[in-house]
Amino acid sequence: MIELCKVEKSYPVGAGRYYVLRRIEMQVREGDFITIMGPSGAGKSTLLSIIGMLDGDWSGEYDFLDHPVHKLNMKQRAELNKKYIGFVFQQYHLLDGLTVAENLDIPLSYRNIKAADRQAIVADTLDRFHIVGKRDLFPSQLSGGQQQLVAVARAVIANPKLILADEPTGNLHSSQGKEIMELFKKLNEEGTTIIQVTHNESWAAYGHRIIKLVDGWITSQK
Ligand SMILES: Nc1ncnc2c1ncn2[C@@H]1O[C@H](COP(=O)(O)OP(=O)(O)O)[C@@H](O)[C@H]1O
Ligand SMILES: [Mg+2]
Repeated sequence: MIELCKVEKSYPVGAGRYYVLRRIEMQVREGDFITIMGPSGAGKSTLLSIIGMLDGDWSGEYDFLDHPVHKLNMKQRAELNKKYIGFVFQQYHLLDGLTVAENLDIPLSYRNIKAADRQAIVADTLDRFHIVGKRDLFPSQLSGGQQQLVAVARAVIANPKLILADEPTGNLHSSQGKEIMELFKKLNEEGTTIIQVTHNESWAAYGHRIIKLVDGWITSQK
């Protein structure tokens, strides 16, 4: 599903360059559940945003399904993202001007689903995440943990083929975190491919493979 070959990302610093990712080689099959771990600053979020096609400024080759991403323009990449990927951002990135229900509707609006059905799916999802009472609130009216729940709900609501989750439980109580991990486990058993970043050993173990990233290098994959 995903094949990264010699992927690198760097920023100019003075006369040289500062490398955030070095010669990344990574293969992901459909149905995989992968955990990425590594110290802060290792490049984990950068790697996820490249895989999620949100970053256009890197070198190397990236094949996603039958698409050579490195040859696509940003508009084409955004279309692939909308069609196939649910992304949980480390900083949530909910749209401040929209209510919780409206935020959840966005991924559905990219699909060919009737408005009435979309409303029903949003209602079901609010229920599943125990946030029915928050439906008409704006993100700024929620706690960090509640925003994170909405961010996870938004990432899964449209049944994406691939879920990319950047520390998706970092702000949740452990019981809520476990609920999210059990949800990911169930979605993965149903065929969804998942790549998560976590610092939590218990949540890491939900993955079938662990990739360790240190200073932009993959130091182990097993
Ligand atoms: N715009 C930028 N300019 C220079 N360095 C950056 C920029 N954005 C991120 N970085 C650096 O890239 C490295 C990796 O960041 P990140 O992918 O967020 O790491 P992680 O998610 O593993 O904590 C960090 O050292 C960070 O300082
Ligand atoms: Mg990060």
